[in-house]
Amino acid sequence: MLPLSDGQLMLANIWTRLKQFYCGMFCRYTKADKAFAGSYLNIQEMALFNQLPGFEKKHSVVVARKMLEAIHGKHEFDERKMAKLGLLHDIGKVLEHNSIFTKSVLVIMRFFFPGLYDRLADGGENHPIFKRFYIHKHHGEVGARLLEKIGETSEILSIIAKHDPRHNPFGPETPIEQKILNEADSTY
Ligand SMILES: [Fe+2]
Ligand SMILES: [Fe+2]
Repeated sequence: MLPLSDGQLMLANIWTRLKQFYCGMFCRYTKADKAFAGSYLNIQEMALFNQLPGFEKKHSVVVARKMLEAIHGKHEFDERKMAKLGLLHDIGKVLEHNSIFTKSVLVIMRFFFPGLYDRLADGGENHPIFKRFYIHKHHGEVGARLLEKIGETSEILSIIAKHDPRHNPFGPETPIEQKILNEADSTY
């Protein structure tokens, strides 16, 4: 398959974002989704997971399900670990306190004004207003710090901390689980 051009990548990105917005508005986190999450997460993980807004919980369940589809029949993978990575990869967003609308504003800003977005995010860790920019950009590391407190393994912490290839581009040492997570995450 030929590599995609910059224009095609941009269109694919816009299409993914539109789908995310649509789902944020209309896809519901169901009882079946809750049962799915509960079958892979322990009590402490579930307590954190439940603090995510509904649209983020739905996103995480869909990502986890896609990851399980991707490893179906491949016995070298640990199903529980993969589901956990999918369910917890955006857990840092529990501190973001965004609605689907404020999240959309951040995504649009990152797309059209990346320099301003980066400046507000990187300098916003302790700022009362721009802290949500910091958490939005660094939610992987923020999530890993939360998960460390409840005893998650260093492997899970490392993958979640670096799950956004915009900030941590893949290299030869990138674990395959991280690539599978990114693939599932970037298509929903
Ligand atoms: Fe993420
Ligand atoms: Fe995600």
